[in-house]
Amino acid sequence: MSKIKILKSAPGYDLAAPGYDKKEKYLNSFEQNKFLPLLGNLKNKKVLDVGAGTGRLSLLLAQVGTQVTALDLSAEMLKILKNKDKKIATVVGDAENLPFENDTFDIVTAAFLIVHLKDPLTFFDEAYRVLKDGGILAVSNINQKEAPEVQTKEGKIKIESFYHRPEKIIEDLESLAFQVEKNVLVYEKNIWINQLIIARK
Ligand SMILES: C[S@@+](CC[C@H](N)C(=O)[O-])C[C@H]1O[C@@H](n2cnc3c(N)ncnc32)[C@H](O)[C@@H]1O
Repeated sequence: MSKIKILKSAPGYDLAAPGYDKKEKYLNSFEQNKFLPLLGNLKNKKVLDVGAGTGRLSLLLAQVGTQVTALDLSAEMLKILKNKDKKIATVVGDAENLPFENDTFDIVTAAFLIVHLKDPLTFFDEAYRVLKDGGILAVSNINQKEAPEVQTKEGKIKIESFYHRPEKIIEDLESLAFQVEKNVLVYEKNIWINQLIIARK
């Protein structure tokens, strides 16, 4: 039996993109409809959705009247997003080196992103920089110790992933002077499956 290849995010998600939306219900189940309500009033807010993928969250944000910019390392994921809503601005770029000026956004969101970052601190630092004073970072942290197998046209792959303890994520955010306002653990049976955080600059 051939070994499953572990790919970095950009090539991995470029390959996974055509099948990604089949997982939407599964991904939603990790949020149990609790993520968006944590963000408060969204009307007319300028939002950066980092690791936006095919737009699962970006589209919801656009529907409630925000001005969304969707950033992702994978051009193929963003192509699918763009086909769903042409009004959403898409940028191929890296969460750890955001191509935006300081103090640009009211809200930065990142759903299922930090599982792909070895050290999320660099991204948090960048999010802090591009947020306006008083702006919020909304980030989720899935409890995933093993990267799942993904079927692609080139066979099964895994995409490089990292496990992050909830306490460490809070520590990192506070070390950058973010005020953690909400820290919600989502449970299935008695096990936490996802952490939803709102942190204010
Ligand atoms: C699990 S998907 C989540 C997509 C979307 N946020 C959602 O909730 O469905 C993770 C996304 O993060 C992107 N990604 C991974 N590392 C990244 C990085 N350093 N900068 C920007 N995007 C990244 C991947 O390309 C992929 O589209």
